[in-house]
Amino acid sequence: MFISFEGIEGAGKSTAQRLLADLLRERGHVPLLTSEPGGCSLGRNLRPILLDARLSGLSDRAELYLFLADRAQHVAEVVRPALESGQTVLCDRYTDSTLAYQGYGRGIDCEQLRRGNETATGGLVPELTILLDLPVATGLARAGQRNREEGTVLSEGRFDAESQNFHERVRQGYLELAGEEPQRFAVIDATEPPEDVSLQCLCAMEAALRRCGKGLE
Ligand code: TYD
Repeated sequence: MFISFEGIEGAGKSTAQRLLADLLRERGHVPLLTSEPGGCSLGRNLRPILLDARLSGLSDRAELYLFLADRAQHVAEVVRPALESGQTVLCDRYTDSTLAYQGYGRGIDCEQLRRGNETATGGLVPELTILLDLPVATGLARAGQRNREEGTVLSEGRFDAESQNFHERVRQGYLELAGEEPQRFAVIDATEPPEDVSLQCLCAMEAALRRCGKGLE
């Protein structure tokens, strides 16, 4: 099964991913945890170009193609092989990040972005997308604190430095996307404690498996 995690900065995606993986391991599964951008060798080289707050002048379309290049390689090198070997893949950010950030955030036409995603992934769509939703101010405060603690304010902070309005558009964009595909999306309140969030992720996964006619032993 292929599960993506989405949300604005500071939504707690990587924590939810890690805690859901723990719950799955307790049930005898061996999930693969991965992320975008940077989940493959090419992406690790692209990540500093995409996220370093000191690099200015990257055009919106150049940014888009770098995210798509990262995704194309990541799907080919990591995600597809894992799915083909029967692993559950938990991916921190995927195609909906491009729609939310480059589409609703930057203003690039969403139909063009959908075609780009389709080309990059060969049409690989997650069976479940967990949208961790929270107010922008709360998310940015959490992300700012994490970046200060980890010393990554500059090296990882290009998107965190965008305006509050930008992040509001991204959040509303995500909620619209979830509204358009209620079967694929599970929207979870990310202001709740991490353990509660991870249990809700597990419930969403069980519901998605039932929809696919499978179960979680
Ligand atoms: P990352 O450090 O992974 O942030 P987070 O911990 O918030 O997930 O940085 C990824 C950043 O890149 C994040 O701000 C969202 C942005 N992004 C896009 O704009 N488009 C995309 O397609 C992807 C995958 C990420």
